[in-house]
Amino acid sequence: MTQAPKVTRRRFLEIGSGITLVAAAGLLWRANERGVFAEPTGEAYEPWSMWQAPGYANTPLALVAAGILASNPHNTQPWIFRVSATRIDILADTRRHLGTFDPYLREMHVGLGCAVENMVLAAAANGFSAEVAFAPGSLLDIAGRDGQVLAATLRLSPSSAAADPLYDAIPRRHTDRNPYDHSRPLAADAFAGVADEDGVRMWLFDGSAARDRLGAAIIEATEEIVADEQMIEDSHDWFRDGPDEIAREKSGLALDTAGLSPALLAAAKFLPALPAEQSHGAWLNQTRDTHVPTAALLGLIATRDRYDRPQALAAGRLWQRLHLTGAAVGISMHPLNQPVETIDRELQLEREAKSEVRLASITGDESWQPTFVFRAGYPTRQVRLSARRGVKEVTV
Ligand SMILES: Cc1cc2nc3c(=O)[nH]c(=O)nc-3n(C[C@H](O)[C@H](O)[C@H](O)COP(=O)(O)O)c2cc1C
Repeated sequence: MTQAPKVTRRRFLEIGSGITLVAAAGLLWRANERGVFAEPTGEAYEPWSMWQAPGYANTPLALVAAGILASNPHNTQPWIFRVSATRIDILADTRRHLGTFDPYLREMHVGLGCAVENMVLAAAANGFSAEVAFAPGSLLDIAGRDGQVLAATLRLSPSSAAADPLYDAIPRRHTDRNPYDHSRPLAADAFAGVADEDGVRMWLFDGSAARDRLGAAIIEATEEIVADEQMIEDSHDWFRDGPDEIAREKSGLALDTAGLSPALLAAAKFLPALPAEQSHGAWLNQTRDTHVPTAALLGLIATRDRYDRPQALAAGRLWQRLHLTGAAVGISMHPLNQPVETIDRELQLEREAKSEVRLASITGDESWQPTFVFRAGYPTRQVRLSARRGVKEVTV
């Protein structure tokens, strides 16, 4: 009979520490691979520092470089810019849609309007005046989701007008999904410099019963979205899983900007991505426990007809201006557009228009149709950059 080799205590410890070392190396490799400890870097983030590159200065490309830094739904960047010396056409790239999350491309057009606002601000800073013309028509008539559709045109002519101070805030504007400092009140007059435009109106609620009702509407709408399997699947398609996917796509939503605490962010990045149901469940919790209760101010933007293309674009211009106004003075902002997304969805499914009634009861004026809801407050954390496709990738 052979005797089993004797494992000494020393040998046992050697084997044990070997296993520990291999496990630690594996963990470190995974942490590195998933960018757990790294700030987001690389080509996908360069547009934020390159937007004023000397090569763009005083050319129409400087306007595109500013346009691509705009707010846009789910970071889909649904734009293509057709550029000549005297004209830029902004095309809706309808392939970059959000499915049932934005069935009428209304949010897509609001995002395109945001890009237009940045471009108009960049025009003056680069020696141009820009005359804006929006493509007419109704969003209800855009059937396809497979091509490029003209949304707006900027006609450029030489100008020596001074740049708007909001121009400098373009790279400082980021969606802040973190808790806000609830001990610091924020009065609606912080945005007094931003005027309603013709056909676009905003409401700002900084402490009334209407503010609480809008907060409740945001949470209720989020619950309805989370219960809608198709909506969360379509939303999930734009979630990016890890640095490799972000580097490849340069678009979509990443954990870095999800508003998580540093410890939770590190854990979430390390672990495999959550399926749609769980990630959207976490989003509902954040909305209920953090986004709404810590907001110092809630607001909404409305138009006469939310499915009119020029009005959707104009609403986007106003949101971008508001957000830049906040960024210029250190106010954090964050769209919470769920109560309008459920209006679209009810229309698409031909259901009773409960969401419409819910928001009309807050504005008290049915002749205005809300198209954008947001919160504002003072920041508690540094906000990270979102990815962007560069000027060359979106210009024809
Ligand atoms: C029409 C529209 C709707 C949006 N809706 C939401 C929303 O409901 N929740 C949210 O967290 N961000 C929302 N956003 C913000 C975008 O996700 C954000 O702008 C995009 O990811 C790019 O990030 P950035 O704003 O930091 O550049 C919305 C933006 C636009 C223009």
